Amino acid sequence: MNFDETIDRRNTNSAKWDGMAAATGVTAPDAIAMWVADMDFRAADFLQDAVQGLIEKANYGYFTGEQSMKEAVSWWMKNRHGWDADPEAMTSTGGLGNGIAICLHTYTDPGDEVIIFTPVYHEFTVKINKTGRVVKESPLVIDNGIYRMDLAALEASLTGREKVVLFCSPHNPAGRVWTRDELRALADFCVRHDLLLISDEIHHDLVLPGFTHTPLPVAAPEIMDRLVMMTSASKTFNIAGARLGVVTIPDETLRKPFAGAVRGIDLSPNLLGCVLSEAAYSPRGAQWVDALTGYLDTNRQIFLDGMAQIPGLSAMPMQSTYLAWVGFANTGMDMDEVIRRVKGDARIAPSIGADFGSGGEFYLRFNIATSKAQLQEAVARLQNAFSDLQ
Ligand SMILES: Cc1ncc(COP(=O)(O)O)c(C=O)c1O
Repeated sequence: MNFDETIDRRNTNSAKWDGMAAATGVTAPDAIAMWVADMDFRAADFLQDAVQGLIEKANYGYFTGEQSMKEAVSWWMKNRHGWDADPEAMTSTGGLGNGIAICLHTYTDPGDEVIIFTPVYHEFTVKINKTGRVVKESPLVIDNGIYRMDLAALEASLTGREKVVLFCSPHNPAGRVWTRDELRALADFCVRHDLLLISDEIHHDLVLPGFTHTPLPVAAPEIMDRLVMMTSASKTFNIAGARLGVVTIPDETLRKPFAGAVRGIDLSPNLLGCVLSEAAYSPRGAQWVDALTGYLDTNRQIFLDGMAQIPGLSAMPMQSTYLAWVGFANTGMDMDEVIRRVKGDARIAPSIGADFGSGGEFYLRFNIATSKAQLQEAVARLQNAFSDLQ
């Protein structure tokens, strides 16, 4: 568990590093990748042991280990989140993005509206558009420096074309950990307006000290008949390349069409995703996550303190994730100039706030899941790039 090691991941087919130039236009040889939600840490020992176990078996043929993976998911959800997740209610997908797309195809028709709370993980909009559904944005409001949902404004804007709420909990970007009351209010809203609630909880383990994530089935058990839960070990353990998402649908009637859609496109769980997820959702995995969130909390402090020293920048307080959401509205610069300085002068590739929908226009998102040394270098470069601000 040496998170302090700075690892050069260039030339490893890492999307974050080797795909940086194509995706972000940042090409400097010493550029720092702070965009996609992928961590720079070395894979944990228990993951390496699991891969070693596979190598020793020397068999990569058709695979029957899905059930034990689901039982490990169930164990983890109960032990870490107090949620009784029934393995029988789980369906595997090829990652959660894939799970979201299948959900939209299964539960909505082209032209139906899908509510998202913006700014939010940009792929929500991409998936909604790609499937021919329509995005309905419900802008988050900033209250005491943090995001809150404005359900009253959303309620006033409903047209009846809305079929689904696609929810991110904890929230990406900005890492809001929704409170039980907020979750209950959303659940109640979905009941009143007959909406399906798809809760993407992929970041649920990356909660910083002092905050507690509440899964929707725990906060609002009465809405099981309209709830689709999306989880994956991919963010927590940095195994996104193994492409496994787990979609848990407690209500059998609701689950059947989803499971049918997955079978219909002949999607079956891949061996590596199952083996890594099962190894992750274990007591050793729990210890590792506790150490990781402690490290991320220190990184949070380093990064937010560093940003606070640049006049005009306002980073939102982080409650979870390793994604810092930094506002530039008060610098007096337009975002083209901000981005030129960050990408050009600081040689840093962030995610662009405008891609996250309304409310993101004056923000950049920085991924701080890297070694302290590299993070400090990034902070110094940003301070330098904006050193003329007083
Ligand atoms: C909220 C959220 N959902 C889904 C994903 C993507 O998941 P996957 O890689 O399993 O498709 C991400 C990745 O950053 C995410 O932040």
